Amino acid sequence: MSFTIMGTGSGKPSLCKTNEDLVKIMDTNDEWIKTRTGISERYVCGEESVTDLACAAAEDAMNDAGISVKDLDLILCATISGDYITPSMACLVQERIGATCPSFDINAACSGFLYALDVAAGYYERKRVKNVLVIGAEQMSKLADWTERSTSIIFADGAGAVVLGEGEDFLSSQIASKGNHKVLYAENVKGNCPFTQQAPDNFNNYLSMDGQEVFKFASVSMARDLKRVMKEANLMGKDIAYVLPHQANRRIIDFAISKIPEIPSERFLVNIDKRGNTSAASIPILLDEYNKLGTFKDGDILLMSAFGAGLTTAACAIRWREK
Ligand SMILES: CC(C)(COP(=O)(O)OP(=O)(O)OC[C@H]1O[C@@H](n2cnc3c(N)ncnc32)[C@H](O)[C@@H]1OP(=O)(O)O)[C@@H](O)C(=O)NCCC(=O)NCCS
Repeated sequence: MSFTIMGTGSGKPSLCKTNEDLVKIMDTNDEWIKTRTGISERYVCGEESVTDLACAAAEDAMNDAGISVKDLDLILCATISGDYITPSMACLVQERIGATCPSFDINAACSGFLYALDVAAGYYERKRVKNVLVIGAEQMSKLADWTERSTSIIFADGAGAVVLGEGEDFLSSQIASKGNHKVLYAENVKGNCPFTQQAPDNFNNYLSMDGQEVFKFASVSMARDLKRVMKEANLMGKDIAYVLPHQANRRIIDFAISKIPEIPSERFLVNIDKRGNTSAASIPILLDEYNKLGTFKDGDILLMSAFGAGLTTAACAIRWREK
């Protein structure tokens, strides 16, 4: 027993910021951001919180699936930027929407949503659940350092969600980690324990990124992982209806396309130009956007692939079912 996707949803922040808006506050330009990343605009939180976005995505996905909150058996939330260190975002969502099921977060950075699907599959395998709500929600704008340009031009806010039900449509899945705390990281709070000596004078908890190292890691892993899940599920390029890659950088997606010529480039779905990199939320946001456009047909095979801090990577193959 694996699962099927019964519904999708998303929550969008209120503020849309273009590259020109960023030019007013830092030393950058529209041409550079577009050429190096593919991003033209992104959404960031104004008055709303990331929990608000996660709840909006959850309600939207439950409506799309046609289930009510009392039907949920598990809530998984993939995030690295929740409003609280504890409680988890999943528990905050559970409280707000009035669910009663077990709820917990998964921290695998931008790969988190695909890790959460892999975890959910285990609950279905053990026959412990019927309906699972999986959310990816991030407020990356609060982890980026807006006094400089390396991460603030890339990362953005948003939430996406799916409701899973019983089925046999999760065809294959790969998750992997390669521990590395130097390439992409944000340190936790240091506290004020008078006995602890760990906090260096220059401590800050903003996101630090070695862009070129991440680029090398990501461009190799995305094509490799997509090929692995295709092989595991016995799929050929002609079987793939759409690929939903993590929206981190348009050039990384183009590199993956060049390494998998058996899948035509137009089958790779992209919205990074309008949404930026929303970390764990990027794939469920993309999925919801194209679901609501009516793009997916019954039986379509979708591939998903992500990478992120950790370093983590993940990919999966899912059969789409018409509701
Ligand atoms: C971050 C990234 C876009 C930077 O691109 P890059 O080509 O590596 O850029 P570099 O840091 O080498 O800088 C190249 C030049 O652009 C300049 N530059 C860097 N950031 C800039 C910005 N935001 N605006 C304008 N110019 C910028 C640099 O100063 C440098 O100028 P120089 O050649 O005169 O010295 C790229 O490395 C990348 O996309 N990496 C992957 C990041 C990613 O996917 N992260 C998410 C992981 S989930």
